[in-house]
Amino acid sequence: MNSSVAHITTTEVADVLPPDFSLLGQSAAIRAVRAQIARLAESSVPVVIYGESGAGKELAARDIHALSARANAPFVPVNCGAIPENLMESEFFGVRRGAFTGAVEDRSGFFQAAHGGTLFLDEVAELPVAMQVKLLRVIQEGKVRKLGGAREDVIDVRILCATHRNLAQEVRQNHFRQDLYYRLNVIELHLPPLRDRREDIPLLCEALLLKQESLTKCSTISSAALTILMAHDYPGNVRELQNILERASAFASDGVIDVDDLIFGPGTWLGISSASVDSVTATAASAKTNKAETLPEKVKAFERELIVQALRKNRFRQTRTASILGISLRQLRYRMQRLNIHDLD
Ligand SMILES: Nc1ncnc2c1ncn2[C@@H]1O[C@H](COP(=O)(O)OP(=O)(O)O)[C@@H](O)[C@H]1O
Ligand SMILES: [Mg+2]
Repeated sequence: MNSSVAHITTTEVADVLPPDFSLLGQSAAIRAVRAQIARLAESSVPVVIYGESGAGKELAARDIHALSARANAPFVPVNCGAIPENLMESEFFGVRRGAFTGAVEDRSGFFQAAHGGTLFLDEVAELPVAMQVKLLRVIQEGKVRKLGGAREDVIDVRILCATHRNLAQEVRQNHFRQDLYYRLNVIELHLPPLRDRREDIPLLCEALLLKQESLTKCSTISSAALTILMAHDYPGNVRELQNILERASAFASDGVIDVDDLIFGPGTWLGISSASVDSVTATAASAKTNKAETLPEKVKAFERELIVQALRKNRFRQTRTASILGISLRQLRYRMQRLNIHDLD
């Protein structure tokens, strides 16, 4: 075990964090993004924010809103991929009382809710084409009419969008309407993946641990662990780093996150092929749903249950758990990997 600790003090973090921004990082790439956000906050032009999942697109949108003159009006985030198609119109535009059975009172849609503020269309590429047509009309006219209503209400909304897809390519493939694309994609903001700005990782670790400090008492990382964290590729970007740190602080025995406390997502464990990870995951899933059929499956499910219980009872202290279970720490860790025990809540 390496007990030397990487030191970044709270004051240093406060020094490098511009007070108005929640998008952290010291890399040239992130500084450029922040400078662009500050400029974009001065106007109401539509922006499409591009970047991989977990790269900070929503945070960037919130920063644009918070720094703009609209800051005191609502920021309304909408996950376009999560709304059932048959509810989209009423969710976006609202419903007039009596428009259909169950509509017992007038209800505002997202546009009205965001009046004076910002409407954030997350995963905008997932909008069905029929809905794209209706959205374009509302944006062009600056007015919405509730479903079943007659009156048109003027709305003043700034539209920010985000997507992990290439919207221009979606247009070429006829998945996204060109007219709406031109309307929304006036300015592009690109958030670089975390692996392209690794120098931000130490600061992000410190800030993310401070943020979750109320949950755990763990706020330091050994330099060996930090080295590993800086070498990882983060397909899930900052969100993934956040999850790794949350798990690690649950496992860290002495308030210091060390190499052994780092558990990367399935498929990235050293020495485990993706095929065996799949079978482990499948086993864990069947154990969870109590569908274990064969004797080996049942034994595995039972073993998993016992280990999870023991870990919980011992507040995730692995050394203690191992000795109580009568196995070595190494055996415990091996079993945890094999049984896919890493997501305990
Ligand atoms: N630069 C950053 N500084 C601090 N936290 C960040 C940063 N980028 C992302 N996060 C955090 O990571 C998580 C994922 O960010 P989010 O904006 O939701 O990503 P996306 O919308 O691109 O999927 C959030 O909890 C967010 O607060
Ligand atoms: Mg998001």
